Amino acid sequence: MQVNPSSPKPSLSVIAQDMREVDQVIAHRLDSGVPLVGQVARYIIAAGGKRLRPALLLLICGALGFKGAQRFNLAAVVEFIHTSTLLHDDVVDDSSLRRGNPTANETFGNPASVLVGDFLYSRCFQMMVDAQNMRIMQVLADATNVIAEGEVQQLMNMHNAELDEAGYLQVIRSKTAKLFEASARVGAILAGSSPELEEICAEYGQALGTAFQVIDDVLDYTGEAAVMGKNLGDDLREGKTTLPLIAAMQRGTASQSALIKEAIETGGVAMLDQVIDIVKTTGALDVAHLAATQEAQRAIAAARQLPAGPHTECLLQLAAQLLERQS
Ligand code: IPE
Ligand code: IPE
Ligand code: MG
Ligand code: MG
Repeated sequence: MQVNPSSPKPSLSVIAQDMREVDQVIAHRLDSGVPLVGQVARYIIAAGGKRLRPALLLLICGALGFKGAQRFNLAAVVEFIHTSTLLHDDVVDDSSLRRGNPTANETFGNPASVLVGDFLYSRCFQMMVDAQNMRIMQVLADATNVIAEGEVQQLMNMHNAELDEAGYLQVIRSKTAKLFEASARVGAILAGSSPELEEICAEYGQALGTAFQVIDDVLDYTGEAAVMGKNLGDDLREGKTTLPLIAAMQRGTASQSALIKEAIETGGVAMLDQVIDIVKTTGALDVAHLAATQEAQRAIAAARQLPAGPHTECLLQLAAQLLERQS
């Protein structure tokens, strides 16, 4: 099956009105009597972001013909879960740029970021209860738990240059793909789909999310900060063994592999230029792109099993376009 990278940019216009409704729910549910809560939460949310996870939930609802208002509430929930993980993640990763702005931890400090992240997480629980659907609560509770495990697993892997592709994949399926999977699955549950169809949607989300994170890890070496809205080299500084580095160590000469190993073990961001050079010249980027392409193809194969229509078309385009993303 071909993934066509030259297909037009996916138009989310099919869910544009839905997304406006989600933005309203988001704005409304940031309410708190404690001023700093709203200040920090609005700071990161107003900076935008791609809103991919709510879009995925809404596209699945659209593809399966669900039009109930609960979809806006749950789309806001998955964006809040995502936002709270970002607030925590930027503290853990000591990152200073997010969505083109100084991170919340940079602006308000680590304590405010962690605590407002907790506020958003717990606000999600309140909103999930509103849905009064035990299956959805189960899916989202499991997803948040797996994301946390993935982040902890990744922490344990820091500075471990022996981490292999399977170990890497396990982390990204948990920390990133799980929320994509849950977003798609919740859309299917809302639509009252059969268990088989729900699994197809979940597979789409999982594959899309995995490809998304692989590309994100490539961009940490090849992207442009101004376009990404995040700094390059954050992964290396932390000693994070991502697929571009794993592939470069496998394909490089002994001295190239040794340099990358040392950079991982010491968080040698001073070696970033050399590491980028090795990643590029060894073809490690091709390895990572191939891995992402295979996941995107899995997503496309799943989406092809959904009822045909503009929402499914958009899901297909999303998977193909993601491979070309720069931000
Ligand atoms: C950032 O996710 C965290 C990762 C899983 C790589 P996004 O790239 O979806 O972040 P925003 O919401 O668009 O800023
Ligand atoms: C983000 O992982 C995953 C979660 C927030 C759970 P990263 O740390 O790799 O993402 P960025 O690069 O900071 O967006
Ligand atoms: Mg990070
Ligand atoms: Mg991180």
